[in-house]
Parts: sequence; structure tokens; C-alpha cells
Amino acid sequence: MALAGLSLEQAPPLSVPLRFFLTAPLFAFLAALLLLFSGPTALASRWSPALLAATHLLTLGFITMSMMATLLQMLPVLAGAAVKQPRLVAWLVHVPLSAGTLLLASGLAAGWKIGMLASLPLLAWAMLTFILVAAYSLARTEARNATINAMRLALGALAITALLGLTLAAILAGHAALPALKLTDLHAAWGLLGWVGVLIIGVAYQVVPMFQMTPAYATRITAWLAPWFFIMLLIWSITVWWAEDNAKWVALTGLAPGLIGFALATLSLQRKRRRRAPDITSQFWRMGMASLLAASGIWLVAQFSPALSAAAFYPLWLGMLWIVGFAMSVINGMLYKIVPFLVWLHLQSRRPARGAIPNTKEIIPDKMARRQLRAHGAALALLLCAAVLPNPLVYMAAAVWCVSCALLAWNVFSAYRLYHRLAA
Ligand code: HEM
Repeated sequence: MALAGLSLEQAPPLSVPLRFFLTAPLFAFLAALLLLFSGPTALASRWSPALLAATHLLTLGFITMSMMATLLQMLPVLAGAAVKQPRLVAWLVHVPLSAGTLLLASGLAAGWKIGMLASLPLLAWAMLTFILVAAYSLARTEARNATINAMRLALGALAITALLGLTLAAILAGHAALPALKLTDLHAAWGLLGWVGVLIIGVAYQVVPMFQMTPAYATRITAWLAPWFFIMLLIWSITVWWAEDNAKWVALTGLAPGLIGFALATLSLQRKRRRRAPDITSQFWRMGMASLLAASGIWLVAQFSPALSAAAFYPLWLGMLWIVGFAMSVINGMLYKIVPFLVWLHLQSRRPARGAIPNTKEIIPDKMARRQLRAHGAALALLLCAAVLPNPLVYMAAAVWCVSCALLAWNVFSAYRLYHRLAA
């Protein structure tokens, strides 16, 4: 299992993943704050500047930030290839990713072309460095398993997403003339379904059985799901470009069944958990899988219902369910296992007196994590309602969401503070 098999010699220094995990909740908090200050206009359409900015504070600032750290942490164990110079790599990725995301979000929110243009080299640099480092590590490994394959595909999807995103930003800044609408659909699909979806599927094969004490995923799922999904995404993209009317058949027969199958398989494994006591990470994952099922269901219905696909709330629901409900819930749940585990692992090397090391439940207490789980669930429900009735619900949704993100930031920061206090 990925993290359980991690020894200190293989593990990168704690500062490498932790800087990503500490920054990610701050970006989510910024997204919620932006929604709070923008009010109902932010939810007027999928193209509202504040919504596009918040989308990237979440997709780049929270999701990509956390997934990159998870990959840097898992690669040494899974692929048996430690990333060389991990501190340098972390600096070279984390700083430009953070600065580039802030500039892109400001550029999108305020129509600030210089900000958008300035974000491009920073984001291109962060993406390229990360993709090259991870691809090198994955290319050298002789290990073969479904998670490694999914990681390779997800990296490919990230490269496509970044290329399309950089092109779109250049179009918006007035430096390219291409069909922006189709490119945006492709960019969003490769980012959300390819990079986020395929990676979560691959990582789930490792972390669901390990963190939630479930049986392993069936081989018939792990062997084909990620490659099938990736190929379907390719076919869907080609169809969207050349024969848009037929794209719904690919969604219906290829993409949606893959997503629904994954969500149902995960929920069914959770029912077979060896430990019956409620567990925060499992609850976050359950919320994530329910959101994935809801997003896939709505998407399917919209393929055949012009009324739904034309409704203003439809793209907002899809985005909220996928980004906040599915991806954020799953990552949030993982953080509550990964961060305490890493703090515990690194404390062990500092303090030979084993009794003095707190256990993982003391590093982030369940009480604090549960409080945030409730706030996150409430924020998701309110966001979905606000998509239909933005005025006045958006204020309530954004305020509760701010609380949830602040609690997450506090919980991760408390773990870091505890490490510092004990390791000093
Ligand atoms: C190099 C990094 C990226 C850049 C420069 C970038 C740029 C952009 C731009 C300029 C738009 C607006 C398009 C328009 O208004 O026509 C956009 C939309 C979008 N991007 Fe990105 N993006 C990046 C990464 C990502 C990632 C990693 C994801 C997902 C994981 C993502 C998800 C989306 C989504 C969902 C939309 C909105 C689509 C919609 O509402 O229809 N982006 N991106």
C-alpha cells in the first residue's frame, strides 16, 4: 500500500508535501471569499468573471496543488523511484503555481489582461516542471500496477489541459484567434474528467482499501477503468470537434457508465469496511461518490433534455457537484489521513522515545475534522440551492463555505504546528 510502505529514506522531507497541503485550503478559502464579495452576479452564468476565477482558485489552487503533493509523496513507494532533489522540485513547482494561479484568477475576475498574460509563463513552468519530473520517475520504474498506469494517463491529461488553458488565456488576452467555446469545453473536460477524474480513480485503488479498511477493488475494474475512461475522453473530444451532435452518445455509452461504475464500486467497498466505527475520511468519500453519481446522472439527463441543458443552473450544478462535491470532498478526506500520517512518520525520526509521539488521531482530532465535514456538506447543499436562487442564498452559501475552508486550513496548520513544537 502506498503510504503505509513508506520508509523515511524514501520519503521526501516533510516540508515538500506540507507546503502544498498548507497552501491548498487557503486557495479554497479565497474562492469562497470571492463568491461572498461578488454576490449573485457570480452565479449569473458559467462565464461570469468571478466564477471563472473561483473555478481556477479551486482547480489549480486547491485540487492540482494537493494532487501534485500526493503524487510526489506516492511516487517513491509505488514506482520505487524517489524524486531527485525533492526540495528544489517543490520550490520550482509550488511558487510559480501559487503565483500563476493568483494572477490568472485576478486576470479572469477583473478582465485584467496583463495579469492573465503574466500568469502564462508561471503556470507553463510549474506544469512543465511537474510533468517532466513525474513522467521521468514513472518512465524509469519497472513496477507495473493499475495506479501507475492511471498516473501516466492523468499526467497526459494534465499536459493537454494546460496546453488548452494557456491557449484560452492567450485568446482572452487578445493574442490568439481560435474557436474559444469548443476549446473551453475540451479544456474543462480534460481538466475535470482526465486530470482530476483519472487520477482520483487511480489513487483510490491504493488509498480506499488502506485508509478506509475495505477490501481491494476487483481486478476487472482496476485493469480497465482508467484506460477505458481515457480512451472515451479522446473519442469524445474528437467527436465534439468534428461531429458535435454525436458527442452525447459517447457520453452515454462510454464516460458516464465508467464514472457511475467507479462510484458504485467504491460505495460497495465502503459497505464492506472491516471497521464499523464511523470514520471522517470514509464520510468525505461517501459525499464525494454521491456527488459523482449526481453529476453523472444530471449530465446524462441533460444530453436528452433540452430544457435541462438550457437551464442557467445546469452548468453550475455540474461544476459544483464535480469540483466541490466530488473532487474537494475526496481530497479533503485524504488530507485527514495523509497529513497526520506524515507528521507521525517524520516525528518518529526526530524522537526515539516512541511513547512521546502522539498518534494520528491526536494530531488532527476527529472532533475538529467532523466539524469541518459538517460545514463542507452544508456549504455544498447551499451552493446547489444558490445556483437556482442566487439572491440571497449565495451569501449564506459562501459564508458557510468560508467557514469550512478556514477550518480545514486551521486543522492542517495545527498538525504542522504540533510537528514543529515536538520536533524542536
Ligand atoms: C495552465 C493552467 C490553466 C490555464 C491557463 C487555464 C485557463 C483557462 C481560461 C482562460 C478559461 C476561460 C475560458 C473562457 O472564458 O473562454 C478556463 C476555463 C476553465 N478551466 Fe482552466 N486553465 C488552466 C487549468 C485548469 C485546470 C487544471 C482545470 C481543471 C482541473 C481547469 C478547469 C477549467 C474549467 C472547468 C473552466 C470553465 C469552463 C466553463 O465554465 O465552461 N483549468 N481556463
